[in-house]
Amino acid sequence: MCGIVGYLGNNDCIENIKQGLLNVEYRGYDSAGISYIDGNKIVVQKRVGNVQNLFDTITCPDGIHCGIGHTRWATHGEVCEKNAHPHLSFNNKFSLVHNGIIENYAMLRDNVLSEIPFRTDVDTESIVNMVAYINQEKPEMPIVNCLGESLKSLQGSYAIAMIAKETPDVIYFARKESPLLIGVADGETFISSDILGLGKNCEKYVVVPNGVYGVIATDGIKAYKQGGKPYELEFKSMISLGERADKGDNAHFMQKEINEIPAVIVNTIDIYLKPLNPLTIIEPSFWEGIERIEFIACGTSYHASMVGAMFAEDNAHKVARTHFASEFVYNPPFVDEHTLCVFVSQSGETADTLHAVKVAKEKGAKTLGVTNVMTSNLVHVCDHTLPICAGVEVAVASTKAYNAQVTVLLLLADFLRDGNYETIARRISSEAMTLNLEEMWANAKKFVKKISNSRSIYFVGRHMDYITCLESSLKLKEISYIPCEAYAAGELKHGTIALVEEGTTMLAIVTEPKLISKTLNIVEQAKARGATLIYYTSLNLKDFAVKDKDVMRAPVVDVELSPLFSIIPMQMVAYLVSVGKGYNPDRPRNLAKSVTVE
Ligand code: AGP
Ligand code: GLU
Repeated sequence: MCGIVGYLGNNDCIENIKQGLLNVEYRGYDSAGISYIDGNKIVVQKRVGNVQNLFDTITCPDGIHCGIGHTRWATHGEVCEKNAHPHLSFNNKFSLVHNGIIENYAMLRDNVLSEIPFRTDVDTESIVNMVAYINQEKPEMPIVNCLGESLKSLQGSYAIAMIAKETPDVIYFARKESPLLIGVADGETFISSDILGLGKNCEKYVVVPNGVYGVIATDGIKAYKQGGKPYELEFKSMISLGERADKGDNAHFMQKEINEIPAVIVNTIDIYLKPLNPLTIIEPSFWEGIERIEFIACGTSYHASMVGAMFAEDNAHKVARTHFASEFVYNPPFVDEHTLCVFVSQSGETADTLHAVKVAKEKGAKTLGVTNVMTSNLVHVCDHTLPICAGVEVAVASTKAYNAQVTVLLLLADFLRDGNYETIARRISSEAMTLNLEEMWANAKKFVKKISNSRSIYFVGRHMDYITCLESSLKLKEISYIPCEAYAAGELKHGTIALVEEGTTMLAIVTEPKLISKTLNIVEQAKARGATLIYYTSLNLKDFAVKDKDVMRAPVVDVELSPLFSIIPMQMVAYLVSVGKGYNPDRPRNLAKSVTVE
């Protein structure tokens, strides 16, 4: 999930790479590095830690006009300076940054490259050494062709940017599966894993298509399809990137993004209520003949999909199920041309989800993406895409995007019923406008100590509350590192209750009146065995001998909309616990925002 940046132009290369890297750092922050040509030498400077740390501890000469940079989320080889990108070829003639995984790197290293000394434990080194090896064997071959030849031997995924000592003002690039974009401004060219990594002044950009490689030089960009056939890149006008990485008055992006939730929901609804909107512009025939709906996603987007499937089944009366993308790929359900596969992904770049699209398409399914990033790969591979309009989400822990995904999926469920989603849209919007976030923060604060001191936490709930339990548990564990699990309340007695002992914290989520007694019965069984209880509810639990001090208030909203809103205080709790423990909730350990490897 690394972030790549490259710059060629008249202005300060190092500063442009630094800004680009800061903007794509959410993709990984194990280590960072930069490479450029100074005189007749390739310079590589790298550090463990984040991008700021790199630039605080290195000095670069002025007057550099071409270079590449990288921020790493390690997949192969421990996190250390040696393994950080950029990687130099064995003969120091090429320097390369990579996002992806070279699955056959060990085979390449031990066979065709067996005479070549490797310096790191990273799969990436096999790419740069392969280019250098071909260049050494065939010195007359242009470097871009050496790159093209090398790609033929690689198995796996890659976005690559490379510089070569022989050609100082040139960046070579290649892409398969992992994202890569090129942006062009007056006298400058940028390359990056994300549109956010391109220069602010870019006028045009292109998403490099899968299987395309090429060369960026001062006299233009040349691209080729695998096999060497020239390929015409189709540039588009740059989209507005006004709201890039700015925390405003907030201490962290996560806090800012939680505070944006009501506005995000209202804005999303506004877009879907326009006469020409993302649902109605899709040709009617696309929606015809759908018998089943399969929702496919990962992590938080999977939980949003669970809400989507529940509502699609209840409201549209279609068989609807949810699948982890990584499981769908290897164990797909029955899928045919009467199946609508809905792929939900904030980033639109999650490798598991993109692979699942391929599988669904091979089986003839209709494919619908739901994403926050309309320049992402998901948009290119799906038949149609619904934007969630959440604005840039920087914090690794997804918050506002979840609420926006649930919003769009609720509209979709009603749209699939009879085309009329205006009623639910207006209900959602009016509930969102009445949310009192200050009160929610205040309520959440009261429970931070209790939760922070817990060794582990079990979230339990039924039906829609079970989905909120899953998402609450994921949010808390990913940024506070407290072991948490979510269980369907009724399942506890079938095994998990064996784990309950003195000191176990159980957080029961109850927002549906019809489920109060059933959920609380289970919770009582755990309490009798020593569990400390926190009740998270919008309901009155007085009749159930629950003490006020143990009750955390959930927003009082239309019960049907509970999954959309009751998650918000749980997102706040996760944030506050993380900050209270001294962690940075925006940069949780071992994680990256966008998981572009399988
Ligand atoms: C969310 O808090 C997580 N960091 C993670 O589970 C994320 O939702 C998952 O990786 C899927 O990402 P996507 O929505 O960009 O596909
Ligand atoms: N495989 C490379 C590494 O471990 C790149 C990782 C990635 O793109 O996430 O450094």
